[in-house]
Amino acid sequence: MSSYEKLDSWSLRAQKEGYPARSVYKLKEMDEKFRLFRLGQNYRVLDLGASPGSWSLYVLRRYGNLRLLAAVDMLPLSRRFDRGLFGRDNFFFIQGDFSSAPVKEELARRGPYGAIISDAAPDTTGSRSVDTLRSLTLAEEALAYAEAYLAPGGSLALKVFQGEDTAELFKRLEERFGSARAFKPAACRRGSFEIYYIGLGKKNTPERSRSHG
Ligand SMILES: C[S@@+](CC[C@H](N)C(=O)[O-])C[C@H]1O[C@@H](n2cnc3c(N)ncnc32)[C@H](O)[C@@H]1O
Repeated sequence: MSSYEKLDSWSLRAQKEGYPARSVYKLKEMDEKFRLFRLGQNYRVLDLGASPGSWSLYVLRRYGNLRLLAAVDMLPLSRRFDRGLFGRDNFFFIQGDFSSAPVKEELARRGPYGAIISDAAPDTTGSRSVDTLRSLTLAEEALAYAEAYLAPGGSLALKVFQGEDTAELFKRLEERFGSARAFKPAACRRGSFEIYYIGLGKKNTPERSRSHG
C-alpha cells in the first residue's frame, strides 16, 4: 500500500466512524496508552485548537458524563457529525485566538481543568524553521494554560513540531508534571515532524530549575 493510500485510509476510517478529521486516532491512541482523562466529580477538559472538532467529539462520546468540555479555535467547528453533542450544556466553544486576553478570560473562568489537550498548529509555510517556531509559540501557550488552569494531578497533551528549541519546552514539562513523555502516534502523517508532549500528574507547586544556575 502506498503512503498516500495509507493516509487516505485514516481519513476514510474517520468519516466512517463519524469524525471530521483523522487526527482523532492520535488522541485515541494517546488516551488508551496514557489514560489522559481520569474522570472524577466536576471533571472539566479544555481542547485548544479544536476545529474541525474530532478531538472534542472523541471526548464527548467517550466521556459523556464529564462536567464540561471547553473548546477554542480561530475557525468554527464542523457540525456534520456531532449529532447535537456540540449543543449540549456540558460543551462550550469559543471562536478566537487562545493567546488573546478575552479568550483566556472566558476559558479561565470555566476551569480549573482535569485535562488540557492541544492539537493547535500554525498554517504551514513550507519553511521548516518558520513553522517550528510558530508551532513552538502555540505549544508554549498551551503549557502556560496548563500552568495556570490545570488542576493538580491533571494531564496535558500538546502538539509541537520538532525543532532545536523543543528541548527547553520538554524540560519545563518534566518540571511541572510527575511524568513527561514524548510520543508520536501511528496516525501522524509519514514524514511529518509533529510530536506530542504528554504530562501526567501535574505537581502542586512547580519546581524552578532556573534556581539551580
Ligand atoms: C490540526 S487542527 C486541530 C484538529 C482537531 N484536533 C480535530 O481533531 O479536529 C489545528 C487547529 O489549530 C487552530 N489554531 C492554531 N492557532 C490557534 C490559536 N492561536 N488559537 C486558536 N486556534 C488555533 C487552527 O485554526 C486549526 O484548526
